[in-house]
Amino acid sequence: MGLVYPLPSIKTASGGKEIHLESLLGKTVLVIGGGGREHAIVDALRRSPQVEKIYCAPGNAGIGLQAFNVPLKDTDVEGLKAFALENEVDLTVVGPEASLAAGIVDAFRAAGLKIFGHTKAATAIESSKEFAKKLMEKYGIPTAGYCSFSDYEEALAYVSARPFPAVLKYDGLAAGKGVVIAQDLDEARKALADMLLDHSFGQGRVVVEDFLTGPEFSFLCFVDGERVYPMPLSQDHKRAFDGDEGPNTGGMGAYTGLPFITPEDREFAYKEILCKAASAMVAEGLPLSGVLYGGLMKTPQGIKVIEFNARFGDPETEVVLPLLKSDIYDIFEGVASGTPLEEPVWDNGVTLGVVLASKGYPGHYEKGFDISGLDTVDAQVYHMGTAVRDGHVFTNGGRVLMVVSGGKDLADARQKVYAEIRKIGCDNLFYRSDIAHIAFE
Ligand code: AMP
Ligand code: GLY
Repeated sequence: MGLVYPLPSIKTASGGKEIHLESLLGKTVLVIGGGGREHAIVDALRRSPQVEKIYCAPGNAGIGLQAFNVPLKDTDVEGLKAFALENEVDLTVVGPEASLAAGIVDAFRAAGLKIFGHTKAATAIESSKEFAKKLMEKYGIPTAGYCSFSDYEEALAYVSARPFPAVLKYDGLAAGKGVVIAQDLDEARKALADMLLDHSFGQGRVVVEDFLTGPEFSFLCFVDGERVYPMPLSQDHKRAFDGDEGPNTGGMGAYTGLPFITPEDREFAYKEILCKAASAMVAEGLPLSGVLYGGLMKTPQGIKVIEFNARFGDPETEVVLPLLKSDIYDIFEGVASGTPLEEPVWDNGVTLGVVLASKGYPGHYEKGFDISGLDTVDAQVYHMGTAVRDGHVFTNGGRVLMVVSGGKDLADARQKVYAEIRKIGCDNLFYRSDIAHIAFE
């Protein structure tokens, strides 16, 4: 498998699971994507005794230590389908929303290939804000009140008559950049002009939402029609700098073991949000068959949906999947085939992970800086944006690496992660030093 060094299995309060490479036999899996999320998926698949060979398209330097990287773009549906047919892939697992929105699941299924992920039509729960809002309204799923517009003047008149801040969301996939929290009329005017006059993201509408407050968290579930299998809750850190300052990013770190969520909160979110959404999609004739990600907020009026995603979160996946004790191949295969699963078993320890990003990210940044010391790190290192040349790993993206550890509690996991990060040498990386701060306030 081209292994240069084995990544250590994660240690949590109840202990990590041993991996025996010699016991791997059988299935061939193709993972679509090339970030930290896909590295964590590949890593979990490597723990399955049924999986013999893993391909990852396009993959990255770290994934290449555990799988065969395939130089195909994640939206090259025809190329990926031809690859899967030619290489007798038993199961394909989709990471990015772009692949789902490009119709990869529909195309694979039509070719008789087994694939884990939602159809293009069902992916609307993420790709169209208006679809998601209408669904929640129709089925009584708690979320912020909203109104949607295609006309700039009408949108501006509506926003002007309401209190600020105003939440403006472009109705389509916008790579995480389609949400503006406007603090005053000037900002709102600029954002609306950008979205509805200049069409910076495309021809979509704009959803204007009530502004909610409270801590956010991510609730990921495996969903097969009405069957909803919850994963441990996690919290992302979207802002670039300590103290939740600076611009919004794809996520600078995450952890499990949320101190602000009670068992009752979790039960409410599971039943009244995730299960209801899954049933609603069945009722709409768009059954889900993959991951449903609830981006939720614990507001003073209860838990509400900020957004749904139709895929694993990144960086949430990197802290959630290391806790999975069940065989992930069985889960992916069961959901892809529509067969009921045994309830997945999770380690009840905690995990914490910190993202190392290129200086300048999420704005302009340079690539190509050498990274050293990775093989000395005694924690899980997931590669997010790396490539390899002449045996040297170098930076090749905005978010570059994520270092993840378990621990007996969050303080222990946090101490371990930051100690291990100091072993990594690179001239162009920065990271937040306060991941999971809410647990220590
Ligand atoms: P989204 O892409 O919909 O997750 O929005 C990005 C971020 O904007 C969220 O993670 C929240 O921090 C913030 N946000 C979105 N909607 C609201 C809302 N209705 N009220 C307050 N903040 C929001
Ligand atoms: N962590 C945010 C996302 O995956 O959308």
